[in-house]
Amino acid sequence: MTQIADNPHPETDDDLKRALGPLHLISLGIGCIIGAGIFVLTGHAAAGYAGPGVVFSFAIAGLGCLFAGLCYSEYASMIPVAGSAYTYTYATLGRLIAWIIGWNLVLEYLAAASTVAVGWSGYLNNFLTGLGLPIPAAFASAPLAGHGFADMSLTGTIVNLPAVVLIGLITWILIVGVKTSANFNNAMVVIKLTIVLAVIFGCFAYIVPANHTPFIPPNTGEVGHFGWTGVFRATGVIFFAYIGFDAVSVAAQEARNPQRDIPLGMLGSLLICTVLYMLMSYVLTGIAPYQTLNVAHPVSQAVEALPGTIWLAPFVNIGAIVGLSSVVLVLLLAQSRVFYAMSKDGMIPPAFSLIHPKFRTPFKGNIVTGIFAAMLAGALPIDILGELVSIGTLAAFTIVCIGVMVMRVRAPRARRPFRTPLVWVTAPLGVFMCLFMMVFLPGDTWLRLAAWTVIGLAIYFFYSAAHAHPPRYHIKNLPAE
Ligand code: ALA
Repeated sequence: MTQIADNPHPETDDDLKRALGPLHLISLGIGCIIGAGIFVLTGHAAAGYAGPGVVFSFAIAGLGCLFAGLCYSEYASMIPVAGSAYTYTYATLGRLIAWIIGWNLVLEYLAAASTVAVGWSGYLNNFLTGLGLPIPAAFASAPLAGHGFADMSLTGTIVNLPAVVLIGLITWILIVGVKTSANFNNAMVVIKLTIVLAVIFGCFAYIVPANHTPFIPPNTGEVGHFGWTGVFRATGVIFFAYIGFDAVSVAAQEARNPQRDIPLGMLGSLLICTVLYMLMSYVLTGIAPYQTLNVAHPVSQAVEALPGTIWLAPFVNIGAIVGLSSVVLVLLLAQSRVFYAMSKDGMIPPAFSLIHPKFRTPFKGNIVTGIFAAMLAGALPIDILGELVSIGTLAAFTIVCIGVMVMRVRAPRARRPFRTPLVWVTAPLGVFMCLFMMVFLPGDTWLRLAAWTVIGLAIYFFYSAAHAHPPRYHIKNLPAE
């Protein structure tokens, strides 16, 4: 039988350990998905744009991710190797598009890891302040502030030290080994899910119907401020909460049975998180008026609103601290594996795919990733970082949905261990939903995407185009029956 993910350099498959089973992968997905999105951005989206209608925003964003996830899964099962959408694209749509998508994945994972580390720092500081041990102000938050690069100002602080320390620690864990990392992640995911379920079940009986009336507050007259346009704008904001399910596919080279387990891990974790997000946002906007949730720790703020739920507050803080660190772990893991795949192809220097002789991990890629992520997290506030993330991710998702359709035409008889159901409906809907969410992101985010792309193209033409090898994986048609 024709081997589909045909690898002319089979030795490269064994560089990384194949240590991850299906439960590890679902856990990897949940570990990456539930984080700053639900613990921080839900409050901002409800207070600023959608009110309790943020529940619909989660449903819409979840549906968009589902369509994109089904396309991702088909690609991932055809080419079960490290590198995610980057590798799939190189095997199917050519070098330049692959570079653009890889460059967007760098934006996604690197900036998202930094964003979540900043969110983590906020919850940690809040928790320590409750214990009477606040972090000195000069080291507790970003030295830069502002809503865009154009209106940046100095805040007077020196560095967001907890965020930098967190990234340093997690980089070390990743270098020590992926099996260790996955076990560490599993433990954190259990704690995080327990807290999320405790909030949902512990608060449900205390929902105040008045807080949910009207469920979608009327539009203020400005597009994106309440009403349905507010729900749509909130969709773009809380989309961040779903980022990470695609990280499961990035670990394909470390999965024991990637053809079966990658789709299972991705769709399983996405489904679980969508249900949890909708329930959690319903409960949060039910126990506290949505106007009060625009704070750095909206979940503990909400449970503190009622005497019957206040006991949950310290557990929420601990859950957020644990939960957000597991997100940083998976994002940094994913980032170093994208670098690994790009380096194997000669797109970036060989150091990024150098495997540590003892730990069998791409340690140099981990170190470079850690340094850049720590610099971003130490210097920038959460809103600027968060804005950088979504648009790159949505662009990558859009290309994946298009790529799956292209491959159905170009290689209709290729072996597809997982087939996207109703691909001619699912993939166009995926493209539509991703573009829809992109349209609702602010204009300066689009400018930043353009700037990022220009920098990427410069690197491509000055380095990658001269050094890249042909793709290592090819998709072939099986012989006709
Ligand atoms: N989805 C991840 C989060 O919410 C990135 O933090």
